[in-house]
Amino acid sequence: MSKLFTPTRIGPYEVSHRIVLAPLTRMRASPGDMPNDLMAKYYEQRVTDGGLLIAEATPVSRQGYGYNKAPGIYDDKQIAGWRKVTHAVHAKGGRIFLQLWHVGRQSHTALQPDNADPVAPSAIRASGHAYSDNGPVEFSTPRALELKEIPAQRHLRRFDREPGALLVGSDRSCCVGLGRGACGRAARAKRNLWRYVR
Ligand SMILES: Cc1cc2nc3c(=O)[nH]c(=O)nc-3n(C[C@H](O)[C@H](O)[C@H](O)COP(=O)(O)O)c2cc1C
Repeated sequence: MSKLFTPTRIGPYEVSHRIVLAPLTRMRASPGDMPNDLMAKYYEQRVTDGGLLIAEATPVSRQGYGYNKAPGIYDDKQIAGWRKVTHAVHAKGGRIFLQLWHVGRQSHTALQPDNADPVAPSAIRASGHAYSDNGPVEFSTPRALELKEIPAQRHLRRFDREPGALLVGSDRSCCVGLGRGACGRAARAKRNLWRYVR
């Protein structure tokens, strides 16, 4: 407790205290999965000078989408929308990391481009719910992505190469997916962050 309000470093970033906003899916984007003024206000209200926020999980493609009204980061207009958020946070002296998201099989045809099946490594349905316009719906059975389709997913790799800062002015991006391995990775990323702030 005594260290809670003392500064530390998180990688290259200095923070003035150790209270970090956890990523929270808010489902408040405008049509077109567009980050908007409401979202900028939400993050602005929660940041402090020298503080760190982790923005909500953000689909990197329409195929990676599983929650209605989640803000995307797969087209230039969305990137412009995110800039409203990052400017609002930076104006108050804070930092923000963007959490990148591909839900894999944890989606529903109603949320997919042309109502197609979600894609996954295997055609095995996950148990649980996606969040459509009409509320929770059981996950659809995915179709297995074929080897020949993988090169077309290459656009996702720009997120490996380009730090979030280049894309949206966010200070860093971190990755999360859904599915066993991916959840483990997200949990590990959070634990690593806690190591810095504790
Ligand atoms: C409404 C809601 C939305 C959430 N959205 C995300 C998310 O987008 N990404 C993520 O990694 N975790 C998400 N979580 C998990 C939280 O970040 C956090 O890990 C969880 O609430 C447990 O926190 P605790 O371990 O500190 O109790 C969400 C949790 C809630 C309640």
